[in-house]
Amino acid sequence: MSWSPSTYLAFADERTRPAADLLARAPSENPARVADLGCGPGNSTALLAARWPQAKIEGIDSSPQMIEAAKKSGVAADFTLADLASWTPAAAYDVIFSNATYQWLPDHRVLLPRLMGFVAKGGVFAFQVPNNQYSPSHTLMRDVAAQGPWVEKLANVRGIFVERVQTYFDILAPHAASLDIWASEYLHVLDGEDAVFRWVSGTGLRPFLDALDADERETFTREYKARLNVAYPRRADGKTLFPFSRLFAVAKI
Ligand SMILES: C[S@@+](CC[C@H](N)C(=O)[O-])C[C@H]1O[C@@H](n2cnc3c(N)ncnc32)[C@H](O)[C@@H]1O
Repeated sequence: MSWSPSTYLAFADERTRPAADLLARAPSENPARVADLGCGPGNSTALLAARWPQAKIEGIDSSPQMIEAAKKSGVAADFTLADLASWTPAAAYDVIFSNATYQWLPDHRVLLPRLMGFVAKGGVFAFQVPNNQYSPSHTLMRDVAAQGPWVEKLANVRGIFVERVQTYFDILAPHAASLDIWASEYLHVLDGEDAVFRWVSGTGLRPFLDALDADERETFTREYKARLNVAYPRRADGKTLFPFSRLFAVAKI
C-alpha cells in the first residue's frame, strides 16, 4: 500500500493533536528507550523527542516513503523500515508509543499482547486508533466500493481494524499493571473544496484507489465526493465540519 507523506501532512496539525493528547497521559518520567511504532513522516516522533530529549528514540514504519520523509525531518531519532506484524526488537523499551497505526494491522488480540511483551516492567504501552469506521466518511467509502463495476476488484480491499473499547480492555488488562482507556471526538474544521475527501485521500481511501485503474479511480472519486459533500456540506463561511472519534489506551506494564 502506497503512502504520500505530503498528502498525509496536509492536515498535520489535526493528525498530530491526538498524539499530543495521548502523550500527555503517558506516565513515564525518564525513559531510556522509546519506540514510535508507525512513525509516519516523524510528526509523532518529534513530540516524543521533545518530551524526552535524553532518551534514545526509534521510529519504525513499513513505508519506505514515510521513513525517507522521517529521516529528512530533522527529528532526533533513529528511523527504521520494518513491518510491525513481524518486528521483533533486540531489547525491551521503557515506552512503546503508537499514534494512528494499529488500525492497519489485523488481529489486535494477538498483535497487542505481542507488542506489550517488548515493554520493560514498569514501562508504558500507549496507542491511539481512529474510531470512525461507522462514520459517513468510511461507510460511504464502503458503499461506493460495493455498488460500482469495481465490486469484485474491491471485495478484498481491507478496511481498518478497530475493536470496541470493551474489547481493548479485555485484550490489554491481563498484561497491564494499570490501564486507562478513553475515546474523544474531535471536531475538525477543514478549509477548501472536498475537504473530507482530501483528508481520507491521505489515509483510509488509499487501499481502495490503489486497487483501481485510472478510469475507475476517476468515477469512484466523483461518486464518493458527491456523497461526502452531502454528508459533510461545506458551510457558507467555506468551512467543513468533520467530527472524528478516536480511541486511546495507556497501559502501565
Ligand atoms: C496514519 S499514519 C500515522 C503517522 C504518525 N504516527 C502520526 O501520528 O501521524 C500510519 C502509519 O502506519 C504505517 N504502517 C501501516 N501499517 C504498518 C505496518 N504493518 N508496520 C509498520 N508501519 C505500518 C504507515 O506506513 C503510516 O506511516
